[in-house]
Amino acid sequence: MRHVLVSAALLLQGALAFPFTPAHPIARAESLRQIVSNLTSYLSPEAEVHYPNDTEWASLLIRGSSPRVYPDYSVVIEVASEADVQLTVQTAYDNGLPFLAISGAHGWTETLNRLPYGIQIRMRKLNTTTVDADGTTATIGGGSLQWETTRALFAENKQAVTGLCECVSIIGPLMGGGHSFLQGQHGFSLDNIVSARVVLANGTLVEASNTENPDLFWALRGAGHNFGIVTSFVVKAYDIASDWTVYSLIYTQDKLEQVLELVNQFENGTLDRPAKLITTGTLVRIPPLSDDPVLAYTVGYEGTLNETAPYAAPFLALEPLSTQLNTSVDFVELYTVTQNNLDAQACTRNNSITGSGVSLPSWKPTAIRTAYNIFANYTLDPRFSAAVILLENYGMDGVYAVDPNSTALAADERKNPIMTTPIIWYVGNDTDTRAAALSWVGKVKDALYIDDESPRHTYVNYAIGSESLQELYGWEEWRVAKLEGLKRAWDPYNAFAYYNPLV
Ligand SMILES: Cc1cc2nc3c(=O)[nH]c(=O)nc-3n(C[C@H](O)[C@H](O)[C@H](O)COP(=O)(O)OP(=O)(O)OC[C@H]3O[C@@H](n4cnc5c(N)ncnc54)[C@H](O)[C@@H]3O)c2cc1C
Ligand SMILES: *[C@@H]1O[C@H](CO)[C@@H](O)[C@H](O)[C@H]1NC(C)=O
Ligand SMILES: *[C@@H]1O[C@H](CO)[C@@H](O)[C@H](O)[C@H]1NC(C)=O
Ligand SMILES: *[C@@H]1O[C@H](CO)[C@@H](O)[C@H](O)[C@H]1NC(C)=O
Ligand SMILES: *[C@@H]1O[C@H](CO)[C@@H](O)[C@H](O)[C@H]1NC(C)=O
Ligand SMILES: *[C@@H]1O[C@H](CO)[C@@H](O)[C@H](O)[C@H]1NC(C)=O
Ligand SMILES: *[C@@H]1O[C@H](CO)[C@@H](O)[C@H](O)[C@H]1NC(C)=O
Ligand SMILES: *[C@@H]1O[C@H](CO)[C@@H](O)[C@H](O)[C@H]1NC(C)=O
Ligand SMILES: *[C@@H]1O[C@H](CO)[C@@H](O)[C@H](O)[C@H]1NC(C)=O
Ligand SMILES: *[C@@H]1O[C@H](CO)[C@@H](O)[C@H](O)[C@H]1NC(C)=O
Ligand SMILES: *[C@@H]1O[C@H](CO)[C@@H](O)[C@H](O)[C@H]1NC(C)=O
Ligand SMILES: *[C@@H]1O[C@H](CO)[C@@H](O)[C@H](O)[C@H]1NC(C)=O
Repeated sequence: MRHVLVSAALLLQGALAFPFTPAHPIARAESLRQIVSNLTSYLSPEAEVHYPNDTEWASLLIRGSSPRVYPDYSVVIEVASEADVQLTVQTAYDNGLPFLAISGAHGWTETLNRLPYGIQIRMRKLNTTTVDADGTTATIGGGSLQWETTRALFAENKQAVTGLCECVSIIGPLMGGGHSFLQGQHGFSLDNIVSARVVLANGTLVEASNTENPDLFWALRGAGHNFGIVTSFVVKAYDIASDWTVYSLIYTQDKLEQVLELVNQFENGTLDRPAKLITTGTLVRIPPLSDDPVLAYTVGYEGTLNETAPYAAPFLALEPLSTQLNTSVDFVELYTVTQNNLDAQACTRNNSITGSGVSLPSWKPTAIRTAYNIFANYTLDPRFSAAVILLENYGMDGVYAVDPNSTALAADERKNPIMTTPIIWYVGNDTDTRAAALSWVGKVKDALYIDDESPRHTYVNYAIGSESLQELYGWEEWRVAKLEGLKRAWDPYNAFAYYNPLV
């Protein structure tokens, strides 16, 4: 318990405690094994403990972005109950052992690599989804993935606001925001959480909501990865009102400016933008279609073809190279039609994803053309030929409807309708490729900010780990100060220090 005493002294001075450094030299594997072996006898029968000598070990360490992101683990504990999470965290706390929760394993920030010889707390067995008695909320397990929850709710004609890729967890995106097709109607994923059960750094379980521990609840919604492990949470559930209509359009590169100026018109009030309309795209190479990268653009609407037609018309008038129309697409099929399903490229694993997001108030033609040119050049390199630039723009009515002060989320996240992100996937982990990928991300980011004076904002879940605190958590001084104060109160030893940490 030495760290507790030292940290208490620091706290008295009003300073934030140093990172959660092990009190025991945990490199002495013998001591770790004794601690975990004792813990194991208290865990639920369904819990599983894995050591590096297990045959499954390598697969338990695979992430979306491994091997680039590869936290250092000494043991994996697959928890199967809330009590398992509490016991594991309390044991880690009492013995000064670092730990990290894993749900979808798709977090891509390099700060995850700072975990030293830690305990992986694998949340996947906590994957239940139930619609609550009155039908207006659902309770979701802390380790649930989107495809599990979406399908469980769909079976009861319900939907909730989650992220977009089936392979990603619900809670991971939610705690940093949660962008999705439903945000125009209902706000970000985090705007839809009603309450959470949270295991704190010392193993104490607390409830967080607008009425219980409201300050922790505030912090969870925007900086949640810094505060605790969520074992289950309640979100708003909505009746499914309609199927979707989706146009998947591909434009040659010469149409880039025209399409994005059209998007500006939808965003700035020149054209009507209903909350049920989604517009989003990628710059991507599709070799059989064109020698140059193309603009793949999706225009979707939760409604019939006739309801969609007026919004699709100006996009069709720009004469895409190819047009695919899907009508009567249900909420589960929507993931496949928009290539966010389990088989999509985005959901591949062990694929060194590298990217960093840019939030913008509007598209600037020079900026996007410059970014395109850099993209076109870099993707000639076969290592980077599968790269994309995401051009996300899902609608903001539901997001604007929420007071930016009511959650920890950076105000810029609620202000900017456009999120554009250079992303590279590459195989392996050699230093040259990694450096080239990082350099490309930096160049595209710089280009996207041409003609934009606003201070940079990056969505915390699209961060690479080298962004400033302000870039991720907001430029309002009071907001970061408030988060730091709450961090002192709720995680004084900074046990949650590995995901774009506040401290
Ligand atoms: C293919 C892909 C698609 C994406 N799509 C979207 C999208 O549509 N919308 C969007 O907003 N973002 C999206 N993102 C970004 C996404 O929000 C982050 O990558 C997020 O961190 C992934 O969470 P995870 O649980 O899958 O990853 P993990 O690496 O398992 O977790 C990420 C962080 O959350 C912590 N964590 C995990 N479970 C818990 C828990 N129960 N309680 C507390 N902390 C926990 C982990 O410790 C880690 O620090 C996408 C990312 C990828 C790779
Ligand atoms: C063994 O684990 C239990 C439950 O976490 C704990 O109460 C006890 O102190 C531990 N014993 C030792 C010797 O660490
Ligand atoms: C693997 O390591 C653990 C912990 O050291 C040990 O208890 C177990 O017997 C080992 N298993 C094998 C198959 O060697
Ligand atoms: C890959 O490289 C990163 C950055 O240098 C490093 O942190 C990580 O541990 C490496 N992965 C493996 C599996 O060695
Ligand atoms: C939870 O995971 C298990 C094991 O993968 C799976 O069989 C089950 O269907 C999942 N539950 C839900 C609700 O998706
Ligand atoms: C809206 O965007 C279009 C396209 O960029 C631009 O021409 C127009 O001036 C903008 N209108 C307003 C009111 O900002
Ligand atoms: C769709 O619109 C067309 C043309 O306006 C009309 O003829 C048709 O009846 C409409 N279909 C439905 C299902 O409303
Ligand atoms: C969408 O349309 C394409 C082209 O018509 C078709 O191949 C595909 O099966 C459709 N997808 C769904 C889910 O209906
Ligand atoms: C083109 O890409 C290569 C890497 O493939 C890079 O070295 C070069 O600087 C790039 N040129 C421009 C103009 O961006
Ligand atoms: C948000 O809170 C800050 C700090 O208390 C305050 O200055 C600002 O006016 C508030 N903004 C709104 C929209 O209430
Ligand atoms: C993950 O990728 C690395 C480097 O490309 C490779 O060495 C390793 O075998 C892969 N692991 C799995 C389980 O595919
Ligand atoms: C656990 O941490 C919380 C938040 O810092 C604190 O309020 C509580 O008193 C701690 N519990 C114990 C048993 O130390």
